[in-house]
Amino acid sequence: MHIVHTLADLRRALKPTAHRALVPTMGSLHPGHLELMQTARHAIDKRAVEDKRSGSGMTVASIFVNRLQFGPNEDFDTYPRTLENDCALLKANGCDLVFAPSEKELYPEPQLFKVHPPAQLADILEGAFRPGFFVGVCTVVHKLFNIVQPNLAVFGKKDYQQLMVIRRMVQQMALPIEIIGSETRRTEDGLALSSRNGYLSTEERAEAVQLSMALKGLAAAAREGHATGVLDVASAEAAAMDALRARGWQPDYITLRHQHDLSPVAGPSAEPLVVLGAAKLGKTRLIDNWEV
Ligand code: PAF
Repeated sequence: MHIVHTLADLRRALKPTAHRALVPTMGSLHPGHLELMQTARHAIDKRAVEDKRSGSGMTVASIFVNRLQFGPNEDFDTYPRTLENDCALLKANGCDLVFAPSEKELYPEPQLFKVHPPAQLADILEGAFRPGFFVGVCTVVHKLFNIVQPNLAVFGKKDYQQLMVIRRMVQQMALPIEIIGSETRRTEDGLALSSRNGYLSTEERAEAVQLSMALKGLAAAAREGHATGVLDVASAEAAAMDALRARGWQPDYITLRHQHDLSPVAGPSAEPLVVLGAAKLGKTRLIDNWEV
């Protein structure tokens, strides 16, 4: 596995192949990320085998803590940076090349050209509580796509809205990249794996699973509503938020949405739905979701 830090070295290290996968990350890797890497490896090898003329495929992981997607009061400075350990994990999980640029390398001058996703997708939910977040994500992901030129990229479903925004960007900009969404990895008690779980104290860590429990409860209410024909979405959402508040959380949102565009759900529905939530436990903000 090669590790490169500059665009020039990356271009030299990129093997000409018809099958190249990218797994963009901010580092501080956990088993959820490694699953993204394994998914990429598997998908790219399968393609290379099917297309015998193209030779072997290549998997690339990027590691870059992207300042553009952090708000002024967020954790950019304290975000864990564990490059050496990340590289060892990537090597053991099918990665061929790591691109870990410095800020000066990726943004040698202020990034004035930015990708602005549409408000109805990007200014709701995470975007409402983290203004500019998806502009930062789309800008860096578009730039990484241009640099690495993958034809496949893997993102986690844990960041459900991010995955949707990126899928739409790829579709609207006609980028020739297949986007694969990888299932959320959880601990045994059900907590979605996240680099930010490392911020939790022992007591908070024990409590943290309650977010996914609240989401599961709302998902169950949605299923029951579909079966019985009765569902007061606003009350069910408010009850889930109140239950978390009673345990000391500060929820930003717990909400039932349509899977295809994250628009609100009016009542009982046979369409594919998803429950999404974000809440602060102490100083740590966690997000999670469950498809219904
Ligand atoms: O999901 C993440 O870790 C980041 O948002 C991403 C996609 C690597 C862009 O910085």
